[in-house]
Formats: sequence, structure tokens, C-alpha cells
Amino acid sequence: MTLVIRRYEAADAGATWKVFRAAVHGTAGRDYAREQIEAWAPPTVDEARWAGRRAAAHTYVACWDDAVVGFSDFTDDGLLDMLFVDPRAGGRGVARALVTRVLREAAAAGHRRLHVHASITAKPAFERFGFAVDGTRLAEVGGQQLRNFDMSIAVRQPGSDSWPAGWVRSRPS
Ligand SMILES: CC(C)(COP(=O)(O)OP(=O)(O)OC[C@H]1O[C@@H](n2cnc3c(N)ncnc32)[C@H](O)[C@@H]1OP(=O)(O)O)[C@@H](O)C(=O)NCCC(=O)NCCS
Repeated sequence: MTLVIRRYEAADAGATWKVFRAAVHGTAGRDYAREQIEAWAPPTVDEARWAGRRAAAHTYVACWDDAVVGFSDFTDDGLLDMLFVDPRAGGRGVARALVTRVLREAAAAGHRRLHVHASITAKPAFERFGFAVDGTRLAEVGGQQLRNFDMSIAVRQPGSDSWPAGWVRSRPS
């Protein structure tokens, strides 16, 4: 199976919503209470609003054999807003491949730093990617408060020889 990272297309809206729900319920569910998970990823979504948010950001999808198994993005404000991987594809480098692409595209767009509000679940992965914790926060989602972390990373500019401190370019063997 080949992992392909490509730009989000309008037809990916439904698949990215399914990945989001599966990742929140199947993976983040180990770190947050049931009512927090239900508020974060409810059973139904306003499809037009969801599609609009994906299209408004610079969104990238990860595909295995043409099936969307993950997605990530960055906004014009320099926020990496979303990083979600289907639990069935977890632990195989999908998030790393997505974040590698997002950092490259953000650099090309002129960003010098990317920020993320990382979940408890995603914090170790962002640390592996070289992000550092700037603080903790409580996010209000659907009437629930969810603890997460303000994290950020310096973005490697095109033509620069140096990678951000802590950035590991390849998976250890
Ligand atoms: C966090 C998430 C995106 C990671 O996706 P993934 O495809 O399984 O991640 P990868 O396989 O690319 O692993 C990324 C790195 O983080 C490390 N990592 C991931 N989870 C870890 C953990 N709990 N503890 C330690 N290291 C961890 C991996 O070992 C890997 O390191 P390496 O590349 O140096 O070997 C996925 O688990 C997910 O969707 N979680 C739920 C949704 C969520 O919380 N999203 C973030 C919202 S801000």
C-alpha cells in the first residue's frame, strides 16, 4: 500500500468527517470523558459548515489505496487546526507524513511559526515532530471544557539548511 498526501478536494468532505469522528471516538476517547468526546465529535454535522471550514484552510488528506485515512491543515493565521488519523491506520506514520507536508506548505506560504491547540492524545506526537509546549488551556466545545496544550514550532524556510530543533526527519528503525 502506498501512502499519498494530496490537497483536499470538495469530494473529501464526507470522508474527512468520518475520519474525524473515528479518531476522536476511537483514539482520543482514551484521554477524555465520554461526554467530552460526544461534544467534540457529535453523531451528526452541518455538512456545509464542515466542508466550508476544510476548504477555507489549507487542507491535506492522506490516502491509502484511494481511501482517506487522515487529514491536516493550516490556516492563514498560522494555526495547524486539525490533525486526525483513522485509528485503523494509526501508528504507521500517517500523521508524520501529513505534518511534514503541512510544514513544507506553510513555509512556502511564508509562515515562520505554526501553532496548534494539541489534545492530550496528540501532544506526544507533536513533541516528536519538534513542537514545544507554550502553555495549557481549556477549550470550550459544545458546553464541555477540554484540556489541551498550546504548542508551536519554528517553520523551516525553503532554502534553509537547518531543521527546527527536535525535528526528526525519518522514523527511527
Ligand atoms: C495524534 C494522531 C494524529 C497521531 O496519528 P498517527 O498516524 O498514529 O501518528 P504517527 O504514526 O505518524 O506517529 C507520530 C509520532 O508520534 C509518536 N507517538 C504517537 N502517539 C504517541 C504516544 N501516545 N506516546 C508517545 N509517542 C507517540 C509516534 O511514535 C511517532 O513517532 P516517530 O514518527 O518518531 O516514530 C492520532 O492518534 C489521532 O488522530 N488522535 C486522535 C485525534 C486527536 O487528538 N487529534 C489531534 C487534535 S489537536
